[in-house]
Amino acid sequence: MFKNVGVVGAGTMGHGIALAYAKAGVKVTIVDLTEDILNRALEKMSHNLDIFVEEGMLKFSKEEVLRNITFSTENKDLKDCEFVIETIIENLGIKQKLFKELDELCEPYTILASNTSSLRLSDIAKDVKRKDKVILTHFFNPAHIIPLVELLKHSETSDQTYDSVKAFYEECGKETILVNKELPGLVANRIQIAMAREVFSLLDQQVASPKDIDKAMTAGPGFRLSISGVIEIADLGGLDVWNTVSNYLVQFIESSREPFKPLVEKVEKGEFGAKNGKGFYDYSGQGLDDIMLKRDKKLVKQLKFMDQIKQ
Ligand SMILES: NC(=O)c1ccc[n+]([C@@H]2O[C@H](COP(=O)([O-])OP(=O)(O)OC[C@H]3O[C@@H](n4cnc5c(N)ncnc54)[C@H](O)[C@@H]3O)[C@@H](O)[C@H]2O)c1
Repeated sequence: MFKNVGVVGAGTMGHGIALAYAKAGVKVTIVDLTEDILNRALEKMSHNLDIFVEEGMLKFSKEEVLRNITFSTENKDLKDCEFVIETIIENLGIKQKLFKELDELCEPYTILASNTSSLRLSDIAKDVKRKDKVILTHFFNPAHIIPLVELLKHSETSDQTYDSVKAFYEECGKETILVNKELPGLVANRIQIAMAREVFSLLDQQVASPKDIDKAMTAGPGFRLSISGVIEIADLGGLDVWNTVSNYLVQFIESSREPFKPLVEKVEKGEFGAKNGKGFYDYSGQGLDDIMLKRDKKLVKQLKFMDQIKQ
């Protein structure tokens, strides 16, 4: 287990990732460009921890977890970390520059990771000398709650790097998968976008309302998805039945490569969803922080329940 790790970027993902480590008893240094951003991150982490306290899901006290986190605006404070993850803006040039700087300043044993959603790890690590100690570890928002971390090695990542990162995440209570190819979107986001293509196509054809399309998933297949993935669902349903049904339905399923029309229309109208009060649903009069807090409370309850049924 790494005892001392670093996170660069304290935004949507960074503050949650840092919290996921600190919650497990790991010392974390989190770096961002300004004190203001770091103060906002601390405030969010404090609220997020309250939810875990309410559910009795913290191994340490809230104060102990927060004491594990050091805030800084200087990358040099990451020098001694055993593991550093970057989760800054999704821009190849900026990530390459950061990786090069970390490579030059960190101790030779430091493993460097990226949380990129869409860039290639080999491109980000282009100018890094310690190529065997570079890995992609991809979290899902909110990172301190969602269990999955996708791990991807590039051609020169050593098995030792992979094994120690995997063990570290598992000790932090995360579930990891190994992605064998540098594919855009890795595994989970590709599946999610494939599902979104059909969802927005159904919406465009007015087959059902947004609320009913969402309910079709949350109360239907989505209800069992957190305990059985699609492959197991097919196995349990009978592969002969799945073969017949999917062979028939596949011809009717959306296969367009165009942007999702209902989504484009909303964006053109300036309706960006919860962040500005209107998307497919109406959020007027509700602050984004409150909406997220409500959602996170439900997710933490779900996490607790999943932990119980795993036992
Ligand atoms: N948002 C998601 O759902 C999600 C999910 C998985 C992965 N990701 C990936 O995580 C990364 C971060 O995404 P985000 O949504 O947290 O972005 P964000 O904009 O919320 O946060 C990025 C943070 O990085 C800081 N930053 C930018 N350049 C920096 C630098 N040179 N040094 C230090 N800090 C710097 C910014 O000030 C900001 O606080 C991206 O690569 C993104 O693709 C995002």
